[in-house]
Amino acid sequence: MIRVALIAGTFTAVLGLLVIARLPGAQHTVAQSPAPLSLEQEIKRVEAEIDKILADTLAQLPSIPDGTAHRMKRVQTLGKLELFDKQLSVNRNTACTFCHMPDVDFTGPISMLNATTVAYPGSVRNVSADQAQSRYGHRKPQSYTYAPYYPALQYNKTQGDFYGGNFWDLRSTGDKLQSPAAEQAQDPPIDPNEMGFPDTACVVQRLSLSPYRSFFEAVWGAQSFTIKWPSDVDRVCSTPGPAKPSDPLPVHLGRPGTLKRNIRSIRAGNCHL
Ligand code: HEC
Repeated sequence: MIRVALIAGTFTAVLGLLVIARLPGAQHTVAQSPAPLSLEQEIKRVEAEIDKILADTLAQLPSIPDGTAHRMKRVQTLGKLELFDKQLSVNRNTACTFCHMPDVDFTGPISMLNATTVAYPGSVRNVSADQAQSRYGHRKPQSYTYAPYYPALQYNKTQGDFYGGNFWDLRSTGDKLQSPAAEQAQDPPIDPNEMGFPDTACVVQRLSLSPYRSFFEAVWGAQSFTIKWPSDVDRVCSTPGPAKPSDPLPVHLGRPGTLKRNIRSIRAGNCHL
Protein backbone atom coordinates (compact mmCIF):
# COMPACT_ATOMS: atom_id res chain seq x y z
CA MET A 1 0.00 0.00 0.00
CA ILE A 2 1.36 3.35 -0.88
CA ARG A 3 1.16 6.15 1.64
CA VAL A 4 3.15 9.08 0.40
CA ALA A 5 3.41 12.41 2.11
CA LEU A 6 4.59 14.71 -0.63
CA ILE A 7 6.04 17.94 0.21
CA ALA A 8 8.19 20.25 -1.35
CA GLY A 9 7.29 32.49 -3.82
CA THR A 10 5.81 36.29 -3.25
CA PHE A 11 3.66 38.38 -1.14
CA THR A 12 3.59 41.64 0.69
CA ALA A 13 1.33 42.45 3.59
CA VAL A 14 0.19 45.93 2.60
CA LEU A 15 -0.52 48.01 5.63
CA GLY A 16 -2.03 51.45 5.61
CA LEU A 17 0.63 54.12 5.77
CA LEU A 18 0.16 57.34 7.58
CA VAL A 19 1.47 59.96 5.23
CA ILE A 20 2.36 63.39 6.51
CA ALA A 21 2.40 65.74 3.59
CA ARG A 22 3.37 69.38 3.38
CA LEU A 23 1.12 71.12 0.91
CA PRO A 24 2.57 74.17 -0.87
CA GLY A 25 2.06 77.22 1.28
CA ALA A 26 -0.28 75.35 3.60
CA GLN A 27 -0.12 73.93 7.12
CA HIS A 28 0.92 70.36 7.77
CA THR A 29 -1.81 68.05 6.64
CA VAL A 30 -2.32 64.50 7.82
CA ALA A 31 -3.62 62.29 5.04
CA GLN A 32 -5.96 59.57 6.25
CA SER A 33 -4.64 56.03 6.10
CA PRO A 34 -6.89 53.66 4.18
CA ALA A 35 -9.37 51.81 6.36
CA PRO A 36 -7.83 48.57 7.62
CA LEU A 37 -8.96 45.50 5.74
CA SER A 38 -11.38 43.15 7.44
CA LEU A 39 -10.20 39.63 8.10
CA GLU A 40 -12.32 38.39 5.23
CA GLN A 41 -10.74 40.93 2.89
CA GLU A 42 -7.25 40.07 4.08
CA ILE A 43 -7.88 36.37 3.48
CA LYS A 44 -9.20 37.09 -0.03
CA ARG A 45 -6.14 39.24 -0.76
CA VAL A 46 -3.75 36.49 0.35
CA GLU A 47 -5.66 33.85 -1.59
CA ALA A 48 -5.59 35.98 -4.75
CA GLU A 49 -1.85 36.43 -4.39
CA ILE A 50 -1.36 32.69 -3.92
CA ASP A 51 -3.47 31.95 -7.02
CA LYS A 52 -1.46 34.44 -9.05
CA ILE A 53 1.88 32.94 -8.03
CA LEU A 54 0.60 29.46 -8.90
CA ALA A 55 -0.62 30.67 -12.31
CA ASP A 56 2.66 32.50 -13.02
CA THR A 57 4.67 29.41 -12.05
CA LEU A 58 2.52 27.13 -14.21
CA ALA A 59 3.10 29.51 -17.13
CA GLN A 60 6.87 29.12 -16.68
CA LEU A 61 6.85 25.31 -17.00
CA PRO A 62 7.27 25.08 -20.79
CA SER A 63 10.38 27.29 -20.63
CA ILE A 64 12.25 24.99 -18.21
CA PRO A 65 14.51 22.76 -20.32
CA ASP A 66 14.71 18.97 -19.88
CA GLY A 67 17.96 17.29 -19.03
CA THR A 68 20.02 16.69 -15.94
CA ALA A 69 21.61 20.15 -16.00
CA HIS A 70 18.19 21.62 -15.20
CA ARG A 71 17.00 18.98 -12.75
CA MET A 72 17.45 21.19 -9.67
CA LYS A 73 15.38 23.94 -11.29
CA ARG A 74 12.65 21.41 -12.07
CA VAL A 75 12.59 20.03 -8.52
CA GLN A 76 12.48 23.55 -7.06
CA THR A 77 9.70 24.62 -9.40
CA LEU A 78 7.67 21.52 -8.56
CA GLY A 79 8.09 22.30 -4.86
CA LYS A 80 6.87 25.85 -5.46
CA LEU A 81 3.80 24.60 -7.33
CA GLU A 82 2.90 22.30 -4.45
CA LEU A 83 3.36 25.02 -1.84
CA PHE A 84 1.01 27.39 -3.70
CA ASP A 85 -1.64 24.81 -4.65
CA LYS A 86 -4.94 25.20 -2.76
CA GLN A 87 -6.18 21.92 -4.26
CA LEU A 88 -3.87 20.04 -1.89
CA SER A 89 -6.30 20.66 0.97
CA VAL A 90 -9.56 18.92 1.80
CA ASN A 91 -11.82 21.86 0.83
CA ARG A 92 -9.54 23.00 -2.03
CA ASN A 93 -9.10 26.39 -0.35
CA THR A 94 -5.82 26.35 1.59
CA ALA A 95 -2.29 26.28 0.24
CA CYS A 96 0.68 25.70 2.54
CA THR A 97 1.71 29.30 1.87
CA PHE A 98 -1.54 30.60 3.37
CA CYS A 99 0.31 30.10 6.67
CA HIS A 100 3.88 30.26 5.31
CA MET A 101 4.21 33.22 2.91
CA PRO A 102 7.65 34.08 1.45
CA ASP A 103 7.45 37.85 1.87
CA VAL A 104 6.85 37.56 5.59
CA ASP A 105 9.69 35.09 5.91
CA PHE A 106 7.46 32.05 5.52
CA THR A 107 5.23 32.66 8.51
CA GLY A 108 1.62 33.88 8.50
CA PRO A 109 0.88 36.94 6.29
CA ILE A 110 -2.35 38.23 7.87
CA SER A 111 -1.76 41.17 10.19
CA MET A 112 -5.11 40.88 11.97
CA LEU A 113 -4.44 37.25 12.89
CA ASN A 114 -0.87 37.99 13.89
CA ALA A 115 -2.17 40.64 16.28
CA THR A 116 -4.89 38.47 17.77
CA THR A 117 -5.09 34.69 17.53
CA VAL A 118 -1.50 34.28 16.24
CA ALA A 119 -2.71 30.87 15.00
CA TYR A 120 -4.28 30.48 11.54
CA PRO A 121 -7.37 28.71 10.27
CA GLY A 122 -6.85 25.70 8.04
CA SER A 123 -8.98 24.26 5.23
CA VAL A 124 -12.05 23.69 7.41
CA ARG A 125 -13.38 27.23 7.82
CA ASN A 126 -16.18 29.46 6.72
CA VAL A 127 -15.49 32.51 4.55
CA SER A 128 -14.92 34.88 7.43
CA ALA A 129 -12.73 32.36 9.22
CA ASP A 130 -14.98 32.88 12.24
CA GLN A 131 -13.23 31.08 15.05
CA ALA A 132 -16.46 29.57 16.23
CA GLN A 133 -17.02 27.90 12.87
CA SER A 134 -13.49 27.30 11.72
CA ARG A 135 -10.70 25.01 12.81
CA TYR A 136 -7.61 26.92 13.90
CA GLY A 137 -4.16 25.56 14.60
CA HIS A 138 -2.82 25.97 18.11
CA ARG A 139 0.44 27.78 17.39
CA LYS A 140 2.12 30.43 15.27
CA PRO A 141 3.13 29.12 11.83
CA GLN A 142 6.85 28.64 11.82
CA SER A 143 9.23 30.48 9.55
CA TYR A 144 10.51 27.22 8.22
CA THR A 145 13.33 27.78 5.74
CA TYR A 146 15.97 26.24 7.98
CA ALA A 147 13.88 23.18 8.83
CA PRO A 148 15.38 20.71 6.30
CA TYR A 149 18.92 21.52 7.50
CA TYR A 150 18.26 20.47 11.06
CA PRO A 151 19.67 17.08 12.07
CA ALA A 152 17.85 14.49 14.13
CA LEU A 153 17.26 15.75 17.67
CA GLN A 154 20.40 15.29 19.76
CA TYR A 155 22.02 16.56 22.90
CA ASN A 156 24.89 18.91 22.13
CA LYS A 157 27.42 18.67 24.96
CA THR A 158 29.25 21.89 24.00
CA GLN A 159 26.06 23.94 24.03
CA GLY A 160 24.70 22.03 26.98
CA ASP A 161 21.34 21.88 25.22
CA PHE A 162 19.27 19.95 22.70
CA TYR A 163 19.81 20.63 19.02
CA GLY A 164 17.94 19.56 15.88
CA GLY A 165 14.37 18.35 15.31
CA ASN A 166 11.44 20.22 13.75
CA PHE A 167 8.32 21.97 15.16
CA TRP A 168 8.29 24.40 18.07
CA ASP A 169 8.47 21.55 20.57
CA LEU A 170 10.92 19.51 18.42
CA ARG A 171 8.48 16.58 18.46
CA SER A 172 9.49 15.70 14.92
CA THR A 173 12.73 14.24 16.18
CA GLY A 174 13.92 12.57 12.98
CA ASP A 175 14.54 9.36 14.90
CA LYS A 176 12.66 7.13 12.50
CA LEU A 177 13.84 8.53 9.16
CA GLN A 178 16.98 10.37 10.32
CA SER A 179 15.37 13.50 8.84
CA PRO A 180 13.13 15.66 11.04
CA ALA A 181 11.84 17.51 7.94
CA ALA A 182 10.81 14.26 6.23
CA GLU A 183 8.91 13.21 9.35
CA GLN A 184 7.38 16.68 9.73
CA ALA A 185 6.19 16.65 6.12
CA GLN A 186 3.79 13.83 6.92
CA ASP A 187 1.83 16.05 9.33
CA PRO A 188 0.29 19.09 7.51
CA PRO A 189 -1.71 17.08 4.92
CA ILE A 190 -3.62 15.14 7.58
CA ASP A 191 -3.57 17.76 10.36
CA PRO A 192 -7.30 18.43 10.91
CA ASN A 193 -6.45 22.12 11.54
CA GLU A 194 -4.30 22.52 8.42
CA MET A 195 -4.88 20.77 5.08
CA GLY A 196 -7.45 18.52 6.78
CA PHE A 197 -7.28 15.39 4.59
CA PRO A 198 -8.42 12.13 6.15
CA ASP A 199 -5.56 10.19 4.48
CA THR A 200 -2.14 11.15 3.05
CA ALA A 201 -3.03 9.21 -0.12
CA CYS A 202 -5.39 12.13 -0.88
CA VAL A 203 -2.37 14.37 -1.60
CA VAL A 204 -1.24 11.93 -4.27
CA GLN A 205 -4.74 11.70 -5.72
CA ARG A 206 -5.12 15.51 -5.91
CA LEU A 207 -1.66 15.77 -7.51
CA SER A 208 -2.72 13.20 -10.07
CA LEU A 209 -5.56 15.56 -11.10
CA SER A 210 -3.39 18.68 -11.13
CA PRO A 211 -2.44 20.71 -14.21
CA TYR A 212 1.20 19.95 -13.46
CA ARG A 213 0.77 16.15 -13.31
CA SER A 214 3.01 15.56 -16.34
CA PHE A 215 5.65 17.90 -14.93
CA PHE A 216 5.55 15.90 -11.69
CA GLU A 217 5.93 12.66 -13.66
CA ALA A 218 8.84 14.12 -15.61
CA VAL A 219 10.60 14.86 -12.31
CA TRP A 220 9.75 11.80 -10.23
CA GLY A 221 9.00 9.18 -12.85
CA ALA A 222 6.10 7.84 -14.87
CA GLN A 223 5.17 5.45 -12.04
CA SER A 224 4.23 8.34 -9.73
CA PHE A 225 0.48 8.00 -10.25
CA THR A 226 0.08 4.41 -11.38
CA ILE A 227 -2.42 3.81 -8.63
CA LYS A 228 -5.84 2.30 -9.13
CA TRP A 229 -8.01 4.68 -7.13
CA PRO A 230 -11.20 3.34 -5.54
CA SER A 231 -14.37 4.80 -7.07
CA ASP A 232 -15.25 6.74 -3.91
CA VAL A 233 -11.85 8.45 -3.59
CA ASP A 234 -13.15 11.95 -4.45
CA ARG A 235 -15.83 11.74 -1.78
CA VAL A 236 -13.43 10.33 0.82
CA CYS A 237 -10.79 12.96 0.08
CA SER A 238 -13.36 15.79 0.33
CA THR A 239 -14.37 14.67 3.82
CA PRO A 240 -12.37 16.43 6.53
CA GLY A 241 -10.23 14.27 8.78
CA PRO A 242 -9.27 12.95 11.17
CA ALA A 243 -10.04 9.44 9.99
CA LYS A 244 -12.05 7.23 12.31
CA PRO A 245 -9.89 4.98 14.52
CA SER A 246 -11.84 2.02 13.09
CA ASP A 247 -10.81 3.03 9.53
CA PRO A 248 -7.49 4.87 9.84
CA LEU A 249 -6.66 4.80 6.11
CA PRO A 250 -10.04 5.51 4.48
CA VAL A 251 -8.66 5.60 0.92
CA HIS A 252 -8.76 1.87 0.37
CA LEU A 253 -6.04 1.20 -2.13
CA GLY A 254 -6.78 -2.42 -2.78
CA ARG A 255 -4.79 -5.55 -2.39
CA PRO A 256 -1.06 -5.35 -1.83
CA GLY A 257 -0.72 -7.88 -4.68
CA THR A 258 -1.60 -5.16 -7.17
CA LEU A 259 1.21 -3.02 -5.84
CA LYS A 260 3.69 -5.89 -6.00
CA ARG A 261 2.74 -6.50 -9.62
CA ASN A 262 3.20 -2.78 -10.33
CA ILE A 263 6.62 -2.74 -8.72
CA ARG A 264 7.71 -5.87 -10.64
CA SER A 265 6.53 -4.23 -13.82
CA ILE A 266 8.31 -0.94 -13.07
CA ARG A 267 11.52 -2.83 -12.27
CA ALA A 268 11.18 -4.58 -15.63
CA GLY A 269 11.16 -1.16 -17.23
CA ASN A 270 7.49 -1.18 -18.14
CA CYS A 271 6.03 2.11 -16.99
CA HIS A 272 2.76 1.69 -18.90
CA LEU A 273 0.89 -0.24 -16.27
C1 HEC B 1 -3.24 26.57 9.04
C2 HEC B 1 -1.87 26.98 9.01
C3 HEC B 1 -0.84 26.08 8.40
C4 HEC B 1 -0.88 25.46 7.18
C5 HEC B 1 -1.99 25.48 6.15
C6 HEC B 1 0.40 24.78 7.05
N1 HEC B 1 1.17 24.99 8.15
FE1 HEC B 1 3.11 24.42 8.42
N2 HEC B 1 3.04 25.04 10.35
C7 HEC B 1 1.97 25.67 10.93
C8 HEC B 1 2.20 25.76 12.36
C9 HEC B 1 1.25 26.36 13.39
C10 HEC B 1 3.45 25.15 12.60
C11 HEC B 1 4.10 24.90 13.97
C12 HEC B 1 3.43 23.66 14.53
C13 HEC B 1 4.03 23.15 15.83
O1 HEC B 1 5.14 23.48 16.17
O2 HEC B 1 3.33 22.37 16.49
C14 HEC B 1 3.96 24.72 11.31
C15 HEC B 1 5.18 24.10 11.12
C16 HEC B 1 5.68 23.73 9.88
C17 HEC B 1 7.02 23.23 9.64
C18 HEC B 1 8.08 22.99 10.71
C19 HEC B 1 9.11 24.06 10.68
C20 HEC B 1 10.19 23.96 11.71
O3 HEC B 1 11.00 24.87 11.68
O4 HEC B 1 10.26 23.08 12.56
C21 HEC B 1 7.11 22.97 8.31
C22 HEC B 1 8.34 22.47 7.53
C23 HEC B 1 5.82 23.27 7.72
N3 HEC B 1 4.98 23.75 8.70
C24 HEC B 1 5.49 23.05 6.40
C25 HEC B 1 4.19 23.12 5.92
C26 HEC B 1 3.77 22.59 4.62
C27 HEC B 1 4.68 21.94 3.58
C28 HEC B 1 2.43 22.83 4.52
C29 HEC B 1 1.49 22.41 3.40
C30 HEC B 1 1.43 20.99 3.07
C31 HEC B 1 2.02 23.53 5.73
N4 HEC B 1 3.11 23.66 6.56
C32 HEC B 1 0.74 24.01 5.95
C33 HEC B 1 0.84 26.16 10.29
C34 HEC B 1 0.45 25.76 9.02
